[in-house]
Amino acid sequence: MPQNHESNFAGNAVNSYLEGPPRQVPGFASLHRMTAMLLAERTQENGRILVLGAGGGLELKALADFGQGWSFDGIDPSGDMLQLARHVVVDHSERIGLHQGTIDAAPDGPFDAATCLLTFHHVPLEQRLDTLKGIHRRLKPGATFVLAHVSFPQTEPQRTLWIDRHIAYGAPEAADEAKLENARTAMRERLCILSPDEEEAMLHQAGFSDVTLFYAAFSFKGWVAYA
Ligand SMILES: C[S@@+](CC[C@H](N)C(=O)[O-])C[C@H]1O[C@@H](n2cnc3c(N)ncnc32)[C@H](O)[C@@H]1O
Repeated sequence: MPQNHESNFAGNAVNSYLEGPPRQVPGFASLHRMTAMLLAERTQENGRILVLGAGGGLELKALADFGQGWSFDGIDPSGDMLQLARHVVVDHSERIGLHQGTIDAAPDGPFDAATCLLTFHHVPLEQRLDTLKGIHRRLKPGATFVLAHVSFPQTEPQRTLWIDRHIAYGAPEAADEAKLENARTAMRERLCILSPDEEEAMLHQAGFSDVTLFYAAFSFKGWVAYA
């Protein structure tokens, strides 16, 4: 389980980060577009949006490109990933505040919407519910929350099968078997993965309603829910 965010998202790993998600996440650009569209259903033109796990800046950039009047607070524990985000969103910097830390570092809001993309599988299980509650209490009643990350069945043999599929899908062309095995081991030991049913139950437990799966792309799932 990942306890140390900096070890996953620091130094050289950050330098090569930007090429990772488009290769590893099926429909990455479409996920951003669907997220923006779901937010826009209930978020006014000058809405204020909370982005948890904003490091790297790809999601912030896509949302800021889509909603030209929206403003953002992006939260991330990794200073290196926040630094990268600063570069990626430089054209929108006047609308984006970046804060280092976990959900406790986020302003109180209240926010008109929130997103958390490709981040929750890095959040240890014991912090998941409190993190969701922290997002919920910063949102206006009825506000939209979009959550998407790795989620698949956690019973065997499905768990092992999905880890194999996830690594095979995201592998660079030149990856040899030893590297793939290291990646499978890292995924088994360092990521915190729940089944879709467990994810939905936790969203309800945190106070969200109308939890709906809108994105299911191989090992990734995404939900829209309302505060
Ligand atoms: C794969 S990146 C995704 C970044 C961005 N959301 C995107 O879609 O491009 C995952 C990010 O989650 C951050 N992270 C890890 N644990 C976190 C936590 N408990 N709260 C917020 N962010 C966290 C990492 O530092 C990293 O920047």
